[in-house]
Amino acid sequence: MSRALVIAVDGPAAAGKGTLARRLAEALGLPYLDTGLLYRAVGRRMLDAGLDPATHPADEQARRVTPEDLARGDLRVPEVDRAASLVAAQQAVRAILVDVQRDFARASGGVLDGRDIGTVIFPEAQVKLFITASPAARARRRWEQLARDRNAPDREAEIARVEAELVARDAADAGRAVAPLKAAEDAVVIDTDRLTAEQVLAEALRLVRARAGALGTV
Ligand code: CDP
Repeated sequence: MSRALVIAVDGPAAAGKGTLARRLAEALGLPYLDTGLLYRAVGRRMLDAGLDPATHPADEQARRVTPEDLARGDLRVPEVDRAASLVAAQQAVRAILVDVQRDFARASGGVLDGRDIGTVIFPEAQVKLFITASPAARARRRWEQLARDRNAPDREAEIARVEAELVARDAADAGRAVAPLKAAEDAVVIDTDRLTAEQVLAEALRLVRARAGALGTV
């Protein structure tokens, strides 16, 4: 019997990994896990406990993460972006979260999005995608996702601030010693600068069918 199909979707912040991974999972009938939420939940817990994620070990909080934590509505705010990236650089935190991620896809496979899915969590994934886009395009998309007032007079300044934060977080994620952000050697890189979400999905589905179809998995 062939192994359950695992699709790794990695890439820098706000590249469109989540949108693609969710739609791929839906189209293929696979479970979907946004692994960034795990690190966000740990970062959130550190802030709530008044602990500085830059200097304080976060493994205790990582062990306490519950499904309710992952469903919180305050995980996608700038202070949690930073806290998540800081706790994600701690080896002990990553070691705790490895099993959660592997167990998730063990029985039925899945689509997982993150930074190290194709390199560390599922190096044996049948399909690995690395989704990227220019910092300017990513900042605009993230701002549109978060913006309350699209006609804000300081819109361009706000987008520039989002871009600076994304670039700083990518540098931290790519520069850390453990599980740095990088494309697996056998990943297919998709640059989404000039593509709509529909075009990215169509390209990803084509790749999945070519690759996993050849392995007899879909
Ligand atoms: O949505 P966005 O791309 O902005 O971030 P996310 O995927 O929710 O991830 C938040 C942070 O968690 C990242 O900046 C990484 O530091 C960390 N992360 C990680 O280290 N490994 C993963 N597999 C997923 C997220």
